[in-house]
Amino acid sequence: MADIDRVRELLHGASKVVVFTGAGVSAESGIPTFRDALTGLWSNYEAESLATEAGFTADPSLVWRWYASRRAAIRQCEPNAAYHAITRLQSRVDTTVVTQNVDGLHARAGAKDPIELHGNIVRARCFAGCGWRGDVDALEAVDPGVPPHCPRCDAHARPDVVWFGERLSEVAWARAEAACRAADVCLVIGTSGLVHPAAGLPALARSAGASIVVIGPEATRLDDIAEVVLRGRAGEVLPLLVS
Ligand code: OAD
Repeated sequence: MADIDRVRELLHGASKVVVFTGAGVSAESGIPTFRDALTGLWSNYEAESLATEAGFTADPSLVWRWYASRRAAIRQCEPNAAYHAITRLQSRVDTTVVTQNVDGLHARAGAKDPIELHGNIVRARCFAGCGWRGDVDALEAVDPGVPPHCPRCDAHARPDVVWFGERLSEVAWARAEAACRAADVCLVIGTSGLVHPAAGLPALARSAGASIVVIGPEATRLDDIAEVVLRGRAGEVLPLLVS
């Protein structure tokens, strides 16, 4: 396929690459995306009740249980071929991985220092904001259906993910912006490109001179700024690019 060859060429000539991933890159590991009309999490669950501060305040147990069940499902999943190809790419060219995913699969596939813009579902932090942050497993859960208490200040612990209306970590954002400004090529994989500010990163990379490559099975909001669009599943396309 000529487009595949073009992207291989772009990668070959690049000294810095950014890989920007979304839920679609985990789909072939068995983790549902957010906006698929049938299986998407936000097609089946109410984001306002489950992924906002107000939702947690209204019903902390409901929110804690939902994240616990997602965490348990994710622990059963393995990184797929796309993840392994991205890790391989990192061993060949200076590549920064920036992900919107909270499932931790980049790290489990051996990726070096992935930037997790939206946090990580296996971590928790203090809901009252005392600054405590740690592994969920380190918390003493009296009842698995009830959010444990923050070990430092006794408020509720919450999942260490970014909810709607919340700011991203400034450190993560600064690193992601710097990587996008420095990149020659930005691979955009498995994201609808609808959630800002994350979805603005490929445009930033492009305005700083990077070639944008969008990879996914359906049209996305980011196709317009792409030099090449590769229509296909990440687990099939990525291994072809990094073989
Ligand atoms: P979406 O569910 O919005 O988009 C997933 C994209 O992946 C769609 O474009 C699908 O067509 C595509 N896709 C599906 N299967 C694929 C496959 N096998 N290979 C490649 N692509 C595939 O997910 P995101 O864009 O990640 O926020 O959503 C962005 C944010 O919205 C998430 O990080 C989450 C959510 O609310 C937080 O958790 C804070």
